[in-house]
Amino acid sequence: MPSAALLPWRLAVPLLALISVPFLLPLALPFLLRSSAPSRQALSVHRLDWIPSLVPLNAPDQSTTPPPAPPPPLASTLPVAPTSPPSPPPPASPPPLEMGRDDEAAGGTTCDVYDGEWVRDEEARPLYAPETCPYVDEAYACASNGRPDAGYTRWRWAPRRCRLPRFNATDFLARLRGKRLMLIGDSMNRNQFESLLCILREALPDKTRMFETHGYRITKGRGYFVFKFVDYDCTVEFVRSHFLVREGVRYNRQRNSNPILQIDGIDKTATRWRKVDVLVFNTGHWWTHGKTARGKNYYMEGKTLYPQFDSTEAYRRALKTWARWIDKNMDPAKSVVFYRGYSTAHFRGGEWDSGGSCNGETEPTFRGAVIGSYPPKMRIAEEVISGMRFPVRLLNVTKLTNFRKDGHPSVYGKAAAAAGRKVSRRKQDCSHWCLPGVPDAWNELIYASLVMDPKPRSWKHHLDH
Ligand SMILES: *[C@@H]1O[C@H](CO)[C@@H](O)[C@H](O)[C@H]1NC(C)=O
Ligand SMILES: *[C@@H]1O[C@H](CO)[C@@H](O)[C@H](O)[C@H]1NC(C)=O
Repeated sequence: MPSAALLPWRLAVPLLALISVPFLLPLALPFLLRSSAPSRQALSVHRLDWIPSLVPLNAPDQSTTPPPAPPPPLASTLPVAPTSPPSPPPPASPPPLEMGRDDEAAGGTTCDVYDGEWVRDEEARPLYAPETCPYVDEAYACASNGRPDAGYTRWRWAPRRCRLPRFNATDFLARLRGKRLMLIGDSMNRNQFESLLCILREALPDKTRMFETHGYRITKGRGYFVFKFVDYDCTVEFVRSHFLVREGVRYNRQRNSNPILQIDGIDKTATRWRKVDVLVFNTGHWWTHGKTARGKNYYMEGKTLYPQFDSTEAYRRALKTWARWIDKNMDPAKSVVFYRGYSTAHFRGGEWDSGGSCNGETEPTFRGAVIGSYPPKMRIAEEVISGMRFPVRLLNVTKLTNFRKDGHPSVYGKAAAAAGRKVSRRKQDCSHWCLPGVPDAWNELIYASLVMDPKPRSWKHHLDH
Protein backbone atom coordinates (compact mmCIF):
# COMPACT_ATOMS: atom_id res chain seq x y z
CA MET A 1 0.00 0.00 0.00
CA PRO A 2 1.25 3.49 -0.75
CA SER A 3 2.98 5.05 2.18
CA ALA A 4 0.84 8.14 1.90
CA ALA A 5 -2.17 6.04 2.67
CA LEU A 6 -0.43 4.40 5.55
CA LEU A 7 0.46 7.44 7.50
CA PRO A 8 -2.94 8.53 8.73
CA TRP A 9 -3.70 4.99 9.62
CA ARG A 10 -0.69 4.71 11.78
CA LEU A 11 -2.21 7.40 13.87
CA ALA A 12 -5.72 6.21 13.58
CA VAL A 13 -5.22 2.60 14.41
CA PRO A 14 -4.20 3.08 18.00
CA LEU A 15 -7.27 5.15 18.52
CA LEU A 16 -9.47 2.69 16.87
CA ALA A 17 -7.97 -0.08 18.81
CA LEU A 18 -8.78 1.47 22.10
CA ILE A 19 -12.19 2.42 21.03
CA SER A 20 -13.11 -0.92 19.75
CA VAL A 21 -11.51 -3.07 22.31
CA PRO A 22 -14.81 -4.31 23.64
CA PHE A 23 -15.89 -5.84 20.42
CA LEU A 24 -15.52 -9.43 19.81
CA LEU A 25 -16.13 -11.91 17.11
CA PRO A 26 -19.73 -11.51 16.23
CA LEU A 27 -20.51 -8.01 17.17
CA ALA A 28 -17.64 -5.81 16.55
CA LEU A 29 -18.17 -3.60 13.61
CA PRO A 30 -15.06 -1.57 13.34
CA PHE A 31 -15.22 1.48 11.29
CA LEU A 32 -12.64 2.95 9.17
CA LEU A 33 -11.33 6.29 10.01
CA ARG A 34 -11.45 8.95 7.46
CA SER A 35 -7.95 8.72 6.31
CA SER A 36 -8.01 12.30 5.23
CA ALA A 37 -9.12 13.55 8.61
CA PRO A 38 -6.61 15.05 10.96
CA SER A 39 -5.31 12.59 13.44
CA ARG A 40 -7.21 14.21 16.26
CA GLN A 41 -10.43 13.58 14.52
CA ALA A 42 -9.38 10.15 13.59
CA LEU A 43 -8.97 9.44 17.22
CA SER A 44 -12.47 10.40 17.97
CA VAL A 45 -14.06 8.19 15.41
CA HIS A 46 -15.95 5.35 16.96
CA ARG A 47 -16.58 2.10 15.41
CA LEU A 48 -19.74 0.19 15.29
CA ASP A 49 -18.23 -3.10 15.65
CA TRP A 50 -15.08 -2.82 17.27
CA ILE A 51 -11.89 -1.16 16.77
CA PRO A 52 -8.57 -2.80 16.53
CA SER A 53 -6.16 -1.35 18.96
CA LEU A 54 -2.47 -1.35 18.75
CA VAL A 55 -2.29 -0.05 22.24
CA PRO A 56 -2.95 -1.56 25.62
CA LEU A 57 -6.40 -1.00 26.92
CA ASN A 58 -5.38 1.15 29.79
CA ALA A 59 -3.17 3.33 27.76
CA PRO A 60 -3.10 7.05 28.51
CA ASP A 61 -5.96 9.17 27.44
CA GLN A 62 -5.73 9.86 23.81
CA SER A 63 -7.21 13.27 23.73
CA THR A 64 -4.54 14.75 25.90
CA THR A 65 -1.61 13.10 24.25
CA PRO A 66 0.02 13.35 20.88
CA PRO A 67 -1.32 11.07 18.21
CA PRO A 68 1.05 8.18 18.77
CA ALA A 69 -0.21 7.77 22.30
CA PRO A 70 -2.88 5.14 22.71
CA PRO A 71 -6.42 6.34 23.11
CA PRO A 72 -8.52 5.38 26.08
CA PRO A 73 -10.38 2.15 25.79
CA LEU A 74 -13.81 2.63 24.40
CA ALA A 75 -16.75 0.44 23.87
CA SER A 76 -17.43 -0.51 20.34
CA THR A 77 -19.53 2.32 19.21
CA LEU A 78 -20.89 3.86 16.13
CA PRO A 79 -20.85 7.52 15.60
CA VAL A 80 -24.36 8.72 15.64
CA ALA A 81 -24.34 10.44 12.37
CA PRO A 82 -26.58 13.20 11.19
CA THR A 83 -27.50 10.71 8.54
CA SER A 84 -29.67 8.83 10.97
CA PRO A 85 -33.06 9.56 9.63
CA PRO A 86 -35.64 10.76 12.04
CA SER A 87 -37.36 7.61 13.05
CA PRO A 88 -40.15 6.69 15.39
CA PRO A 89 -39.40 7.21 19.04
CA PRO A 90 -37.22 4.48 20.40
CA PRO A 91 -39.03 1.84 22.34
CA ALA A 92 -37.25 2.13 25.62
CA SER A 93 -36.52 5.68 26.66
CA PRO A 94 -32.98 6.20 25.68
CA PRO A 95 -31.23 9.07 27.30
CA PRO A 96 -29.52 11.47 25.03
CA LEU A 97 -26.63 9.91 23.28
CA GLU A 98 -23.61 9.38 25.30
CA MET A 99 -20.93 11.89 24.75
CA GLY A 100 -17.43 10.64 25.03
CA ARG A 101 -14.41 12.80 25.46
CA ASP A 102 -13.21 12.05 22.03
CA ASP A 103 -16.59 12.78 20.71
CA GLU A 104 -16.69 16.13 22.28
CA ALA A 105 -13.45 16.86 20.58
CA ALA A 106 -14.98 15.95 17.30
CA GLY A 107 -18.35 17.43 18.06
CA GLY A 108 -20.04 14.09 17.58
CA THR A 109 -21.63 11.42 19.67
CA THR A 110 -21.13 7.73 19.92
CA CYS A 111 -23.13 4.74 20.84
CA ASP A 112 -22.45 1.08 21.42
CA VAL A 113 -25.02 -0.41 19.10
CA TYR A 114 -24.44 -3.88 20.51
CA ASP A 115 -25.68 -2.83 23.90
CA GLY A 116 -29.39 -3.03 23.54
CA GLU A 117 -32.49 -5.16 23.56
CA TRP A 118 -34.90 -6.92 21.27
CA VAL A 119 -38.16 -5.05 20.84
CA ARG A 120 -41.32 -6.37 19.33
CA ASP A 121 -42.05 -4.70 16.02
CA GLU A 122 -45.13 -6.14 14.38
CA GLU A 123 -45.16 -3.40 11.81
CA ALA A 124 -41.69 -3.45 10.37
CA ARG A 125 -40.61 -7.03 11.00
CA PRO A 126 -39.86 -9.37 9.43
CA LEU A 127 -38.01 -7.64 6.60
CA TYR A 128 -39.34 -10.28 4.19
CA ALA A 129 -42.27 -12.58 4.68
CA PRO A 130 -41.60 -16.20 5.67
CA GLU A 131 -41.68 -18.63 2.76
CA THR A 132 -41.24 -15.92 0.14
CA CYS A 133 -37.50 -15.79 -0.34
CA PRO A 134 -36.11 -18.43 -2.69
CA TYR A 135 -32.58 -18.10 -1.29
CA VAL A 136 -33.32 -19.51 2.14
CA ASP A 137 -32.06 -23.05 2.02
CA GLU A 138 -34.10 -25.83 3.42
CA ALA A 139 -32.14 -26.02 6.65
CA TYR A 140 -33.24 -22.51 7.67
CA ALA A 141 -36.67 -22.39 6.07
CA CYS A 142 -38.45 -23.09 9.33
CA ALA A 143 -41.91 -21.94 8.30
CA SER A 144 -41.81 -24.09 5.18
CA ASN A 145 -40.65 -26.98 7.31
CA GLY A 146 -43.69 -26.69 9.50
CA ARG A 147 -42.75 -24.36 12.32
CA PRO A 148 -46.14 -23.11 13.50
CA ASP A 149 -45.21 -19.97 15.46
CA ALA A 150 -43.96 -16.79 13.79
CA GLY A 151 -43.24 -14.57 16.79
CA TYR A 152 -39.52 -15.16 16.36
CA THR A 153 -39.60 -13.16 13.11
CA ARG A 154 -41.01 -10.05 14.74
CA TRP A 155 -38.20 -8.75 16.86
CA ARG A 156 -36.00 -5.80 16.04
CA TRP A 157 -32.65 -5.11 17.68
CA ALA A 158 -32.66 -1.72 19.39
CA PRO A 159 -29.52 -0.21 20.90
CA ARG A 160 -30.13 1.15 24.36
CA ARG A 161 -28.64 4.57 23.91
CA CYS A 162 -29.28 5.51 20.33
CA ARG A 163 -31.21 4.58 17.24
CA LEU A 164 -29.93 2.67 14.30
CA PRO A 165 -30.50 4.30 10.96
CA ARG A 166 -33.77 3.03 9.65
CA PHE A 167 -33.06 0.00 7.56
CA ASN A 168 -33.36 0.76 3.87
CA ALA A 169 -32.56 -2.03 1.45
CA THR A 170 -32.65 0.29 -1.56
CA ASP A 171 -30.11 2.52 0.05
CA PHE A 172 -28.01 -0.49 1.06
CA LEU A 173 -27.89 -1.55 -2.58
CA ALA A 174 -27.09 1.99 -3.68
CA ARG A 175 -24.13 1.97 -1.31
CA LEU A 176 -22.95 -1.27 -2.84
CA ARG A 177 -23.19 0.04 -6.37
CA GLY A 178 -20.29 -1.14 -8.45
CA LYS A 179 -18.91 -3.16 -5.53
CA ARG A 180 -18.46 -6.68 -4.31
CA LEU A 181 -19.54 -7.83 -0.88
CA MET A 182 -18.36 -11.25 0.24
CA LEU A 183 -19.12 -13.37 3.28
CA ILE A 184 -16.45 -15.89 4.15
CA GLY A 185 -16.80 -18.53 6.79
CA ASP A 186 -18.80 -21.49 7.91
CA SER A 187 -22.47 -22.37 7.58
CA MET A 188 -23.36 -19.64 10.06
CA ASN A 189 -22.05 -17.17 7.53
CA ARG A 190 -24.02 -18.92 4.82
CA ASN A 191 -27.02 -18.39 7.07
CA GLN A 192 -26.17 -14.68 7.16
CA PHE A 193 -25.49 -14.64 3.41
CA GLU A 194 -28.94 -16.02 2.66
CA SER A 195 -30.46 -13.43 4.95
CA LEU A 196 -28.64 -10.64 3.12
CA LEU A 197 -29.81 -11.89 -0.27
CA CYS A 198 -33.36 -11.94 1.01
CA ILE A 199 -33.38 -8.48 2.53
CA LEU A 200 -31.75 -6.90 -0.52
CA ARG A 201 -34.12 -8.75 -2.80
CA GLU A 202 -36.99 -6.89 -1.18
CA ALA A 203 -35.66 -3.69 -2.73
CA LEU A 204 -36.02 -5.03 -6.26
CA PRO A 205 -39.32 -4.27 -7.97
CA ASP A 206 -38.36 -6.92 -10.51
CA LYS A 207 -37.01 -9.92 -8.62
CA THR A 208 -35.48 -11.41 -11.74
CA ARG A 209 -32.89 -8.63 -11.64
CA MET A 210 -30.77 -10.73 -9.32
CA PHE A 211 -29.36 -14.17 -9.98
CA GLU A 212 -26.55 -16.55 -9.18
CA THR A 213 -24.08 -16.02 -11.96
CA HIS A 214 -23.48 -19.72 -12.60
CA GLY A 215 -27.08 -20.65 -12.06
CA TYR A 216 -26.34 -22.52 -8.84
CA ARG A 217 -28.91 -23.11 -6.20
CA ILE A 218 -27.69 -22.57 -2.67
CA THR A 219 -26.84 -25.87 -1.09
CA LYS A 220 -24.61 -26.97 1.68
CA GLY A 221 -22.45 -28.91 -0.73
CA ARG A 222 -21.14 -26.01 -2.74
CA GLY A 223 -18.49 -23.64 -1.47
CA TYR A 224 -18.83 -20.54 -3.65
CA PHE A 225 -21.80 -18.47 -4.78
CA VAL A 226 -21.95 -15.15 -6.60
CA PHE A 227 -25.21 -13.25 -6.79
CA LYS A 228 -25.38 -10.36 -9.17
CA PHE A 229 -27.74 -7.41 -8.70
CA VAL A 230 -27.97 -6.22 -12.26
CA ASP A 231 -29.34 -2.73 -11.67
CA TYR A 232 -26.68 -1.91 -9.12
CA ASP A 233 -23.80 -3.63 -10.85
CA CYS A 234 -22.86 -5.25 -7.57
CA THR A 235 -22.40 -8.77 -6.28
CA VAL A 236 -23.04 -10.49 -2.97
CA GLU A 237 -20.89 -13.60 -2.63
CA PHE A 238 -20.26 -16.44 -0.26
CA VAL A 239 -17.05 -18.40 0.12
CA ARG A 240 -17.00 -21.37 2.43
CA SER A 241 -14.02 -21.51 4.75
CA HIS A 242 -14.61 -23.28 8.02
CA PHE A 243 -11.41 -22.16 9.71
CA LEU A 244 -10.02 -19.33 7.55
CA VAL A 245 -6.76 -21.29 7.64
CA ARG A 246 -5.83 -24.20 5.42
CA GLU A 247 -7.36 -27.61 5.77
CA GLY A 248 -5.33 -30.48 4.38
CA VAL A 249 -4.64 -34.16 4.63
CA ARG A 250 -1.62 -36.19 5.58
CA TYR A 251 -0.90 -39.84 5.00
CA ASN A 252 0.33 -42.08 7.78
CA ARG A 253 2.52 -45.15 7.44
CA GLN A 254 -0.45 -47.31 6.68
CA ARG A 255 -1.24 -44.83 3.88
CA ASN A 256 -4.46 -43.79 5.49
CA SER A 257 -5.34 -40.19 4.95
CA ASN A 258 -6.00 -38.00 7.94
CA PRO A 259 -7.25 -34.43 8.03
CA ILE A 260 -4.95 -31.74 9.34
CA LEU A 261 -5.26 -28.01 9.91
CA GLN A 262 -2.35 -25.81 8.91
CA ILE A 263 -2.81 -23.01 11.43
CA ASP A 264 0.00 -20.89 10.03
CA GLY A 265 -1.25 -21.05 6.46
CA ILE A 266 -4.13 -19.00 5.09
CA ASP A 267 -7.03 -20.88 3.54
CA LYS A 268 -6.78 -21.64 -0.16
CA THR A 269 -9.88 -19.58 -0.81
CA ALA A 270 -7.95 -16.43 0.13
CA THR A 271 -7.22 -15.89 -3.54
CA ARG A 272 -10.89 -15.01 -3.84
CA TRP A 273 -10.85 -12.52 -0.96
CA ARG A 274 -8.56 -10.03 -2.59
CA LYS A 275 -10.00 -6.99 -4.29
CA VAL A 276 -13.33 -7.36 -2.60
CA ASP A 277 -14.82 -4.11 -1.30
CA VAL A 278 -16.70 -5.42 1.73
CA LEU A 279 -15.63 -8.61 3.47
CA VAL A 280 -17.45 -10.31 6.32
CA PHE A 281 -15.53 -13.10 8.04
CA ASN A 282 -16.36 -15.56 10.74
CA THR A 283 -15.06 -18.78 12.17
CA GLY A 284 -16.04 -20.33 15.43
CA HIS A 285 -18.34 -23.25 15.66
CA TRP A 286 -16.04 -25.70 13.97
CA TRP A 287 -13.44 -25.20 16.64
CA THR A 288 -15.63 -27.00 19.11
CA HIS A 289 -16.27 -30.07 16.99
CA GLY A 290 -14.71 -33.52 17.17
CA LYS A 291 -11.18 -33.68 15.85
CA THR A 292 -10.74 -29.92 16.04
CA ALA A 293 -11.63 -29.86 19.71
CA ARG A 294 -9.60 -32.98 20.52
CA GLY A 295 -6.53 -31.64 18.75
CA LYS A 296 -4.84 -34.97 18.40
CA ASN A 297 -2.45 -35.24 15.45
CA TYR A 298 -4.44 -32.53 13.78
CA TYR A 299 -2.81 -29.11 14.07
CA MET A 300 0.24 -28.29 11.99
CA GLU A 301 2.61 -25.37 11.97
CA GLY A 302 5.27 -25.39 9.29
CA LYS A 303 6.14 -29.04 8.95
CA THR A 304 5.40 -29.82 12.55
CA LEU A 305 2.38 -31.95 13.34
CA TYR A 306 1.42 -31.58 16.98
CA PRO A 307 0.53 -34.89 18.62
CA GLN A 308 -1.71 -32.92 20.95
CA PHE A 309 -2.63 -29.27 20.78
CA ASP A 310 -5.12 -27.06 22.58
CA SER A 311 -7.91 -25.93 20.27
CA THR A 312 -8.23 -22.51 21.89
CA GLU A 313 -4.57 -21.77 21.28
CA ALA A 314 -4.94 -23.12 17.77
CA TYR A 315 -7.83 -20.73 17.22
CA ARG A 316 -5.68 -17.83 18.42
CA ARG A 317 -2.87 -18.74 16.05
CA ALA A 318 -5.24 -19.27 13.15
CA LEU A 319 -6.82 -15.87 13.69
CA LYS A 320 -3.38 -14.32 13.81
CA THR A 321 -2.61 -15.96 10.49
CA TRP A 322 -5.79 -14.44 9.13
CA ALA A 323 -4.94 -11.05 10.63
CA ARG A 324 -1.49 -11.06 9.04
CA TRP A 325 -3.03 -11.87 5.69
CA ILE A 326 -5.52 -9.02 5.95
CA ASP A 327 -2.86 -6.56 7.05
CA LYS A 328 -0.64 -7.56 4.19
CA ASN A 329 -3.18 -7.84 1.41
CA MET A 330 -6.00 -5.43 2.12
CA ASP A 331 -6.01 -1.67 1.89
CA PRO A 332 -8.19 0.25 4.36
CA ALA A 333 -8.54 3.01 1.81
CA LYS A 334 -10.31 0.59 -0.48
CA SER A 335 -12.09 -2.04 1.55
CA VAL A 336 -14.15 -2.56 4.67
CA VAL A 337 -13.53 -5.73 6.64
CA PHE A 338 -15.91 -7.09 9.25
CA TYR A 339 -15.34 -9.92 11.62
CA ARG A 340 -18.60 -11.30 12.89
CA GLY A 341 -18.43 -12.47 16.44
CA TYR A 342 -19.59 -15.72 17.87
CA SER A 343 -23.22 -16.62 17.45
CA THR A 344 -24.63 -18.30 20.52
CA ALA A 345 -26.16 -21.77 20.42
CA HIS A 346 -28.93 -22.80 22.81
CA PHE A 347 -28.93 -26.50 23.50
CA ARG A 348 -30.81 -27.81 26.51
CA GLY A 349 -29.96 -31.12 28.04
CA GLY A 350 -27.08 -31.99 25.77
CA GLU A 351 -24.94 -30.72 22.96
CA TRP A 352 -25.53 -30.59 19.23
CA ASP A 353 -24.41 -34.17 18.84
CA SER A 354 -25.74 -35.60 22.09
CA GLY A 355 -29.43 -34.96 22.12
CA GLY A 356 -29.46 -31.25 23.03
CA SER A 357 -32.72 -29.52 22.16
CA CYS A 358 -34.32 -26.10 21.81
CA ASN A 359 -37.72 -26.95 20.40
CA GLY A 360 -40.82 -25.31 21.80
CA GLU A 361 -39.08 -22.00 22.50
CA THR A 362 -41.26 -19.19 21.24
CA GLU A 363 -39.88 -16.19 23.13
CA PRO A 364 -36.41 -14.78 23.65
CA THR A 365 -34.83 -15.10 27.07
CA PHE A 366 -34.69 -11.80 28.88
CA ARG A 367 -32.73 -12.79 31.93
CA GLY A 368 -30.39 -15.36 33.24
CA ALA A 369 -26.73 -16.17 33.00
CA VAL A 370 -26.81 -16.76 29.28
CA ILE A 371 -27.40 -13.07 28.60
CA GLY A 372 -24.03 -12.08 29.94
CA SER A 373 -22.05 -14.91 28.45
CA TYR A 374 -19.13 -14.01 26.28
CA PRO A 375 -16.92 -16.85 25.11
CA PRO A 376 -13.16 -16.78 25.64
CA LYS A 377 -12.74 -17.08 21.89
CA MET A 378 -14.31 -13.66 21.56
CA ARG A 379 -11.70 -12.21 23.89
CA ILE A 380 -9.10 -13.79 21.67
CA ALA A 381 -10.70 -12.31 18.59
CA GLU A 382 -10.78 -8.87 20.21
CA GLU A 383 -7.17 -9.20 21.14
CA VAL A 384 -6.07 -10.29 17.69
CA ILE A 385 -8.11 -7.65 15.91
CA SER A 386 -6.89 -4.92 18.20
CA GLY A 387 -3.35 -5.80 17.26
CA MET A 388 -3.98 -5.32 13.58
CA ARG A 389 -2.97 -2.45 11.39
CA PHE A 390 -6.13 -2.83 9.31
CA PRO A 391 -9.12 -1.43 11.21
CA VAL A 392 -11.31 -4.48 11.14
CA ARG A 393 -14.86 -3.81 12.30
CA LEU A 394 -16.08 -6.25 14.88
CA LEU A 395 -19.71 -7.17 14.43
CA ASN A 396 -20.13 -7.86 18.12
CA VAL A 397 -23.30 -9.92 17.80
CA THR A 398 -22.68 -12.42 20.57
CA LYS A 399 -24.82 -10.69 23.14
CA LEU A 400 -27.74 -10.09 20.87
CA THR A 401 -27.77 -13.77 20.02
CA ASN A 402 -27.64 -14.73 23.69
CA PHE A 403 -31.28 -13.67 24.09
CA ARG A 404 -32.61 -15.62 21.14
CA LYS A 405 -33.21 -19.16 22.24
CA ASP A 406 -36.41 -18.96 20.20
CA GLY A 407 -34.70 -18.31 16.88
CA HIS A 408 -33.21 -21.68 15.99
CA PRO A 409 -34.60 -24.25 13.57
CA SER A 410 -34.65 -26.89 16.32
CA VAL A 411 -36.75 -29.65 14.76
CA TYR A 412 -37.72 -27.55 11.74
CA GLY A 413 -34.41 -27.77 9.97
CA LYS A 414 -33.58 -29.65 6.87
CA ALA A 415 -33.28 -33.14 8.25
CA ALA A 416 -36.72 -32.98 9.77
CA ALA A 417 -38.21 -31.88 6.51
CA ALA A 418 -36.38 -34.43 4.46
CA ALA A 419 -37.35 -37.24 6.74
CA GLY A 420 -40.93 -36.09 6.93
CA ARG A 421 -40.74 -36.34 10.69
CA LYS A 422 -41.39 -32.99 12.14
CA VAL A 423 -40.75 -33.43 15.77
CA SER A 424 -39.27 -36.70 16.87
CA ARG A 425 -35.76 -35.86 15.89
CA ARG A 426 -32.65 -37.01 17.58
CA LYS A 427 -30.54 -34.09 16.45
CA GLN A 428 -31.88 -30.60 16.68
CA ASP A 429 -30.35 -27.52 15.16
CA CYS A 430 -29.95 -25.01 17.97
CA SER A 431 -26.95 -23.27 16.39
CA HIS A 432 -28.15 -21.85 13.08
CA TRP A 433 -31.10 -19.52 12.72
CA CYS A 434 -34.47 -19.64 11.05
CA LEU A 435 -34.93 -17.10 8.26
CA PRO A 436 -36.36 -14.57 8.46
CA GLY A 437 -34.73 -14.18 11.83
CA VAL A 438 -31.70 -13.22 13.84
CA PRO A 439 -29.11 -12.90 11.01
CA ASP A 440 -31.30 -10.21 9.45
CA ALA A 441 -30.31 -8.06 12.43
CA TRP A 442 -26.61 -8.72 11.81
CA ASN A 443 -27.03 -7.46 8.28
CA GLU A 444 -28.87 -4.40 9.52
CA LEU A 445 -25.85 -3.71 11.70
CA ILE A 446 -23.58 -3.99 8.69
CA TYR A 447 -25.81 -1.49 6.95
CA ALA A 448 -25.68 0.77 9.99
CA SER A 449 -21.93 0.52 10.04
CA LEU A 450 -21.67 1.51 6.40
CA VAL A 451 -24.03 4.42 6.93
CA MET A 452 -22.62 5.73 10.17
CA ASP A 453 -18.94 5.19 9.85
CA PRO A 454 -16.54 6.86 7.52
CA LYS A 455 -15.95 5.01 4.31
CA PRO A 456 -12.71 4.04 2.74
CA ARG A 457 -11.25 6.98 0.94
CA SER A 458 -11.71 5.53 -2.47
CA TRP A 459 -15.44 5.18 -1.88
CA LYS A 460 -16.18 8.75 -1.06
CA HIS A 461 -16.43 9.65 -4.57
CA HIS A 462 -19.30 7.28 -5.15
CA LEU A 463 -21.15 7.66 -1.92
CA ASP A 464 -20.98 11.19 -0.76
CA HIS A 465 -23.19 12.78 -3.26
C1 LIG B 1 -18.81 -7.10 22.68
O1 LIG B 1 -19.93 -7.31 23.49
C2 LIG B 1 -19.64 -7.85 24.76
C3 LIG B 1 -20.93 -8.02 25.49
O2 LIG B 1 -21.63 -9.04 24.92
C4 LIG B 1 -18.73 -6.92 25.55
O3 LIG B 1 -18.41 -7.51 26.78
C5 LIG B 1 -17.49 -6.69 24.73
O4 LIG B 1 -16.66 -5.77 25.40
C6 LIG B 1 -17.86 -6.15 23.37
N1 LIG B 1 -16.67 -5.97 22.58
C7 LIG B 1 -16.37 -4.83 21.94
C8 LIG B 1 -15.07 -4.77 21.24
O5 LIG B 1 -17.11 -3.87 21.95
C1 LIG C 1 -34.47 4.50 0.91
O1 LIG C 1 -33.33 4.87 0.17
C2 LIG C 1 -33.66 5.35 -1.13
C3 LIG C 1 -32.35 5.51 -1.89
O2 LIG C 1 -31.41 6.23 -1.15
C4 LIG C 1 -34.46 6.63 -1.01
O3 LIG C 1 -34.79 7.12 -2.28
C5 LIG C 1 -35.72 6.32 -0.21
O4 LIG C 1 -36.44 7.50 0.01
C6 LIG C 1 -35.37 5.69 1.12
N1 LIG C 1 -36.60 5.25 1.76
C7 LIG C 1 -36.90 5.61 3.00
C8 LIG C 1 -38.18 5.08 3.54
O5 LIG C 1 -36.19 6.32 3.67
